[in-house]
Amino acid sequence: MPDEEKSGIVQIEINGRKHETAQKYLLYALEEAGYVIPKLCSHPDFEPFANCRLCVVDVNGEIKTSCNTEVRQGMVVKTETENITEARRHNMELILSNHPLDCDYCYRNMRCELQALAEKITKATRYAGAERKIGKDESSSAITRDMDKCILCGRCIAACERAGVCLLDYTKRGFNTAIMPPLGLKISDTSCISCGQCSLFCPAAAITERDDRADVYSFINDKEKFVIAQVAPSVRASIGEEFGLAPGSIATGRLAACLKEVGFDAVCDTSVGADFTIMEEAAELVRRIKEREEGKEVALPMFTSCCPAWVSFAEEFYPELIPNLSTTKSPHEIMAVLLKTYYSEKKGIPSDSIAVISIMPCTAKKAEAKRVELKIMGTPAVDAVLTVRETARMIREAGIDLKRAKEENFDDLIRDASGAGQIFGATGGVMEAVLRTADFMLSGAGSSCCLELREVRGMSGIKEAEYSIGGKKLRVAVANGNANAKILIDRIKSGEESFDFVEIMACPGGCSGGGGQPIPSNRKIIGERIKALYLIDSDAPVRMSHENLIVKQIYSEFLESPGSGTAEKLLHTYYVKKKKFSITD
Ligand code: SF4
Ligand code: SF4
Ligand code: SF4
Ligand code: FES
Repeated sequence: MPDEEKSGIVQIEINGRKHETAQKYLLYALEEAGYVIPKLCSHPDFEPFANCRLCVVDVNGEIKTSCNTEVRQGMVVKTETENITEARRHNMELILSNHPLDCDYCYRNMRCELQALAEKITKATRYAGAERKIGKDESSSAITRDMDKCILCGRCIAACERAGVCLLDYTKRGFNTAIMPPLGLKISDTSCISCGQCSLFCPAAAITERDDRADVYSFINDKEKFVIAQVAPSVRASIGEEFGLAPGSIATGRLAACLKEVGFDAVCDTSVGADFTIMEEAAELVRRIKEREEGKEVALPMFTSCCPAWVSFAEEFYPELIPNLSTTKSPHEIMAVLLKTYYSEKKGIPSDSIAVISIMPCTAKKAEAKRVELKIMGTPAVDAVLTVRETARMIREAGIDLKRAKEENFDDLIRDASGAGQIFGATGGVMEAVLRTADFMLSGAGSSCCLELREVRGMSGIKEAEYSIGGKKLRVAVANGNANAKILIDRIKSGEESFDFVEIMACPGGCSGGGGQPIPSNRKIIGERIKALYLIDSDAPVRMSHENLIVKQIYSEFLESPGSGTAEKLLHTYYVKKKKFSITD
């Protein structure tokens, strides 16, 4: 092996120019050198599948798919030849020959990788004949599958595997090949945890978030309703991408203004709900730790519960961990409860006239909002959930360009979240935020050592640390995505590791990489969104939930104290073991 290859850097020739690269696969070396190579199946987050055959290039005189061809010293590559152009057109036409081509009416029209590439490569298909007809699966409250639009790229299989569920795979053969759950079951009859990661990577409209815009428009058009939008922490750092802003651009005030223009009567910040989640979860952690010291039997480590896809994952695959899950509701559910109780009373608006719409990075929150356990006064606390993508569509439908919108504030009654509430959108953020307050609750005084817990930040799969919290040594761990959660839980269950507190977020990067975030999404983009959230935190005048004035006010006027009877009744929930389907049933 030449020295360069041993060091990981090789020289190749691209269209007559020398290029040095350390990339493993040729496609990424070509992109690094500035070439735009068509691709529909490969994605930087996953190992290559080489299914679409669009990324072909000439390597030493042979036509090869660049996404799975490993770079070798001295390779001579041509990216555009007559043969390459014809091969790409031929492959694209074969894909289109089995596609409905109803782009004008398609949910992803103008936001579809397949459509964009087809326009560049070919205007029509020479191949006609039978088309595969499978139809739609609209059984899930989180995602919709339209397998007639599937181009069999394989990305959703990898995404679902990374979500720890491994539900989707190729079934049947040849012309009838399709991506399906086991035995062709409807998604609602499977172990799907509603994370929406499959929809985030689908290059066509074969898997999309469930479209709940019609429900939201009917609330807005109902004159009897006072419709409140609440905005999740990570959304402010990502929605700008839908309007051409760079990933990580902070658009909090512009988003609030746009939502008012769309027709919402008030716009609130879910990060304040996160402040209450932090207060309740920290109190719960402190209580469990004290009870253990008193010799009581107590379920530790405590696991976070603000990610509904992780909660579903635990209910489905690790029901023995249900006692270990924090019973605290997720931030948007808590915010909805406060809006329909405290806010309703203060503003003199009957709670049954209030509709709460959550603007989330998440498809799992759509399913969570329908849980019977989360109803208050007999109805769902959250009336509808929109992903970032649906929200951006509504803003565009209203003829507004978020880029040029003037900034507005959130509603004045429940606003001004702490920095801790805002970092909920990042992997490790929930852990850091809760420990800031647990330290205060255990020691009775804020402690600077708990302000920035750098060991639990970042995109590593599993992060472990030991902190002195209120004078007690606590071992904590963060699993970044469900695939890592599986590894961590197996280590805990085998006795190899022991922790006091564990954060699990189903999506890689936490909510910043959520299934309802703008497309495209990859590690780099998620990293920029996360950076923005930590910037908001470091600039925040109040960085700990227990120091937040609105939090103190609502506890003193309404909820009494963290863990009080009222707080338990309104801000806590329970979980149930689930088993939808088993091969032995
Ligand atoms: S929503 Fe998540 S769990 Fe369900 S099929 Fe898609 S990736 Fe798999
Ligand atoms: S459903 Fe989408 S992501 Fe999955 S194989 Fe089909 S086109 Fe690819
Ligand atoms: S990590 Fe965030 S976006 Fe992903 S499923 Fe959980 S709550 Fe939703
Ligand atoms: S991107 Fe290489 S085969 Fe699809």
